[in-house]
This record gives sequence, C-alpha cells and structure tokens, in this order.
Amino acid sequence: MIQTLEWTDSGVRFIDQTKLPTEEIYVNCTSYEQVADVIRNMVVRGAPAIGVSAAMGIALGVKNSKAENGGDLKKEFDHICEVIGATRPTAVNLFWAIRRMQDKFERLRVRPVPQIKQALIEEAQRMHAEDIAANQAMGRHGATLMPASGGVLTHCNAGALATCGYGTALGVIRAAVEAGKKIHVFADETRPFLQGSRLTAWELMKDGIPTTVISDNMAGAMMKQGKVNAIVVGADRIAANGDVANKIGTYTVAVLAKEHGIPFYVAAPFSTIDLETPDGSKIPIEQRNSREVTHIAGKQMVPDGVKIENPAFDVTPAKYVTAIITERGVARAPYEQSLRNLAEPVEVRA
Ligand code: MRU
Repeated sequence: MIQTLEWTDSGVRFIDQTKLPTEEIYVNCTSYEQVADVIRNMVVRGAPAIGVSAAMGIALGVKNSKAENGGDLKKEFDHICEVIGATRPTAVNLFWAIRRMQDKFERLRVRPVPQIKQALIEEAQRMHAEDIAANQAMGRHGATLMPASGGVLTHCNAGALATCGYGTALGVIRAAVEAGKKIHVFADETRPFLQGSRLTAWELMKDGIPTTVISDNMAGAMMKQGKVNAIVVGADRIAANGDVANKIGTYTVAVLAKEHGIPFYVAAPFSTIDLETPDGSKIPIEQRNSREVTHIAGKQMVPDGVKIENPAFDVTPAKYVTAIITERGVARAPYEQSLRNLAEPVEVRA
C-alpha cells in the first residue's frame, strides 16, 4: 500500500505529492512548523490525510517540547494547535483531528509530561490506523453501488494519497474491482492543481486498474456518449443537510450527472461530516494563490495583470447527491435525518 504519511522515530514522513507522478520522493518533517508548511503547500493533501497529518504534527510538536510541567506544555500545545489549524480552512477533518487531540490532552492533563507526550503520539498513530480501516469499510459499503461493468468517473484525488491508505472514492472503486467488477475509471484532470491526472492516474496505474485521463471539459461529452455509468468523488466537508464541499469542478460534474441520469456518489469518512454546519453556504471556501491558475509547470499561461479567481473547492447541493457512503453505512436523502442517524453509533460497522 502507498505510504502517504507515517510516524517514524525521526519525524513525520510524507510522500511529496507536488512531485508526483514523475518523481517519488519523501519529505521528513522534524518540527510541527514543517508539518504545517507541508499541509499548506500541498505536499500532503486530501481531507483525511490533512486530518491525520495535523494530529501527527501536534504529536511531534509536543514531543519536541522542553516544557517540564503540564501547565507549560498546555501553553505550547495550544499554540501548536493554532498554527496547524491555520493551514487549510475547508477540510473539516483538520479541525476534527485538532479537537480529538485537544480532548485527549484534557483527559491527560494531570499526568507527568513524558506520559502525555507518549499518549498523544499513540493517539495520532491510532487515527492513522483507523483511517485505513474506515476506508476499507467504506469500500465494502460502496462496492455494491458500482456497476458490474462500465465506466466510473471521479474528480480530483480521493485515493490512498488523500488518506492514510486505500482511499475513499478510490477505495470504493478498489473494493468493486476486488469483488470482480469490470470497472474502467475516467479520471478528470482537475485543474488547476491536476490531482486527477497526476495523482489518481498514478495510483490506479500502480494497481493496474484501467484508467483514462480526461481534461475537465470532456466530462459532459463522455457522459453523453454513454461511457460513464456512475460517478464517485470524495469530500472535504459535508454539511448537516447533505451539501458537499469538494474540489472545484465537482459541482459541474454533479449537475452533468443529473442531466444524464447517472448516479452521483460521495464517499467520505464520518469525520468529514460536519453536523454543526447547517448547509453548504456556511462552509468556508479556501482561496489559493493565483499562480496555480496562471502557470502550468512554471510556464505562464495568461497575460500579465489579468484578474484571476482560484477557489479550491465548490459546494454541490444535496439534491444532486444520490448517496453518501461512509464507514458506518450509506446515507440517502433526506440527509438531515440519515446523517444524524449515522452519528448515533460509535463503532465502525463491518
Ligand atoms: O486541495 P486538495 O487536493 O486537498 O483537495 C482534495 C479533495 O478535494 C478531495 O476530493 C477530498 O479532500 C477528499 S479526499 C479523500
């Protein structure tokens, strides 16, 4: 399995996703500031991977602390959480992970400093293992929804590289292929950062899953020609009413899917569901550097001085979403009710 990120004795190690697919190199972070930088600069990206990276960054910062008592350590801990929390605003997994580390710290506060450090490291590692297990469970739930044979379109990268392994949307595709389904993947290129052509195609080629890369503006034509039987994407945040924030361009795909009568599925762990955000209009959308749009591989593609927009995500209204696949089961409309129902159990259902 691809090691997207891992805790090691010498730091947190990441595969550098800005270098893929042409170079497979790894970056070792030895401070929480470096972890914050790799999240901000998209060396690591994808909502679940961002969440676990945040937890590991916090554990690393605490491990490196010179504080001798719980009070001093808490002050440093709060600062570390603030720095990590200011990296990327849309993926709610970041804030979910920070809150989980904060809860853990609260429960340990009176313990000796070395015990607090060890427990936070273990918590981050537990989150890593849980993420892979959640993706595999999501895969089992979602595989049954995939066609026995045919084309499945995905947007961005919601694969092993966006998680700790196996993937959410690509986990569903992997599980369907493992179950014997004959799936051909259409991977949207995903302008401007090219997660589809660089990362999704790289992962699926490694697994030998048949894949065709298309530029984003080809998706409608592929659907009209009958080449796409289902769509499955990931999510960065799902509001309580089922509105889905995901990579810019997802909304366009969902509207096209509706027009062509193609099911549009969202696969995401429960940590991506934000029941405190009532609907998509309240989801903060990250605006990224205009250079991601103006330049491709360092070459300028637009005239100097022209205005640029670069929202990293869009919101797909719940009415376009056929079902939301989580590790706890599959939710369908009305999502206000079905997502709340999934919130009840605490254990991952097999
Ligand atoms: O900007 P990115 O690359 O972090 O955006 C990633 C996505 O939009 C993914 O689809 C989403 O995080 C789900 S990943 C399992």
